[in-house]
Amino acid sequence: MKKVKKAIIPAAGLGTRFLPATKAMPKEMLPIVDRPTIEYIVEEAIQSGIEEIIIVTGKGKRAIEDHFDRNFELEDNLAKKGKHDLLAKINQSSQVEIHYIRQKEPKGLGHAVWCARKFIGDEPFAVLLGDDIVQSEVPCTKQLIEQYEQTQSSVIGVQTVSDEETNRYGIIDPSGKEDRLYQVNQFVEKPALGTAPSNLAIMGRYVLSPEIFQFLEKQETGAGGEIQLTDAIQKLNELENVYAYDFEGIRYDVGEKLGFIRTTIEFALENEEFGPQVEELLKEILAKRSFTQV
Ligand code: UTP
Repeated sequence: MKKVKKAIIPAAGLGTRFLPATKAMPKEMLPIVDRPTIEYIVEEAIQSGIEEIIIVTGKGKRAIEDHFDRNFELEDNLAKKGKHDLLAKINQSSQVEIHYIRQKEPKGLGHAVWCARKFIGDEPFAVLLGDDIVQSEVPCTKQLIEQYEQTQSSVIGVQTVSDEETNRYGIIDPSGKEDRLYQVNQFVEKPALGTAPSNLAIMGRYVLSPEIFQFLEKQETGAGGEIQLTDAIQKLNELENVYAYDFEGIRYDVGEKLGFIRTTIEFALENEEFGPQVEELLKEILAKRSFTQV
């Protein structure tokens, strides 16, 4: 059995839900406390045993490449000032090889994944969306790889959402369940409200067999006029088993404003260095608000 050693991080979307902040800055570079979102995702891949990553970028996304590149001038400056802790922090992702490919037009997630096909070749691979952070004891991608190794099949990360949210996600129609692993009848992208076959939503983490590329190759458009990864997964599911795994952990959607604010607050509260200060600060702000509202 081939091991999962490569990962694709699609990061070429327009980020329209976060305009105007994302007009000139990639949303994947928006910082959660002191690190850009995409760095948390690269770290999850490293901790899951991934050896090579390809980031799919597009117009206006150069900051991502610069972020993961060495900056000798900055390193020299920090070294001279004896700031070794900062020096270690800026090169944290250097343990993994990162490649880049450009998606010339943001035609959808399925198309972004297809752009990386030559890098993947004939191996199973992971996909981690560039705007979803998952916090868990065992890294989310590692959980999926473990399931892939047991089932020898593609495995898609899912979690439960409320009825009102089902039209924002790819939703599975499960046919059987063993612990957290589901067999799936059908994968449906963004079903209209009230028509979702379940509340189990695809959450930005995948381990896929390379057979998926034969379906992405067709470049068929789906929901929203985009080339959808979910549609290709459904076709793959008709050819070979594709499982869904209800992974353990908290998933943060950093690609929309409220999700970003929540993630920032929670991560700041958990920060070892200044978490308690942030808690005090929040209490102070809320107390001041309730005082002025009386
Ligand atoms: P999203 O749909 O959340 O990203 O895609 P978006 O299109 O940038 O966001 P909005 O809806 O306009 O606000 C999930 C991930 O897939 C990438 C995005 O960069 C994001 O990390 N993506 C999406 C691509 O790489 N290419 C695409 O064509 C679409």
